[in-house]
Amino acid sequence: MVNIVVFSGAGISAESGLKTFRDNDGLWHNYRIEDVATPQAFEANPQLVLDFYNHRQKEALAAEPNNAHYAIASLEEKHNVTIVTQNVDGLHEKSGSKNVIHLHGKLDWAQSINNPEHVLPLHGKPIELGNTCPNGFQLRPHIVWFGEQVINVEPALDAISKADKLLVVGTSLSVYPAAGFIEYAPTQCEKHLIALDIDEVPNGFNFIQGKASECVPKLIEPW
Ligand code: OAD
Repeated sequence: MVNIVVFSGAGISAESGLKTFRDNDGLWHNYRIEDVATPQAFEANPQLVLDFYNHRQKEALAAEPNNAHYAIASLEEKHNVTIVTQNVDGLHEKSGSKNVIHLHGKLDWAQSINNPEHVLPLHGKPIELGNTCPNGFQLRPHIVWFGEQVINVEPALDAISKADKLLVVGTSLSVYPAAGFIEYAPTQCEKHLIALDIDEVPNGFNFIQGKASECVPKLIEPW
């Protein structure tokens, strides 16, 4: 069995109607990271931060996976597949993928402000001020904010370091440490990168420029 790792970013969900971060009209063109995506932002204006993520949770729940997500999910029928995603939208799971490692959290989960390991599912509900964990601490989004530790690093690096094929899709590779994880792939691993655009193609990658929903199914069809 071939070990396949898919390393995904916001671009894979763009055709499902969810905004990316750095493309034209991306989220970080309309919001300042320091206003909504840091622990300091939550301390300064928790309502603004909750509104931002509650809205994104609603959009993600309403979104449907596209052909890129579905093609990746179907790879599991024949191969040992691990998805390492920076995405928080849950669309890989919704398309049927079973083995998904989340580096930056998930919109449909909350965590205690007192302990990031105390997480619980939201079941589609928004987080309100006054919603608390069983120990009485305010809930916040289960999202890795700037300045916080990326989660699930060990299983992600373990999978990438054993990959026979690595498909990087829909990420600008500009947020570290996550972007650096792809360097853990073995030298002999077959490496592909699909994106509309990228500043710099990392060494050893076959760059396919185009839409995820078209390029992903085409690339992996013979796998
Ligand atoms: P970015 O917005 O930085 O990059 C999106 C990438 O997807 C770009 O390379 C686009 O060219 C590409 N893209 C856009 N539409 C596409 C399409 N239809 N098909 C294929 N590619 C497409 O998003 P990420 O790299 O995911 O972190 O951003 C990384 C992290 O930055 C996110 O996880 C988030 C953000 O701050 C946190 O929130 C912690």
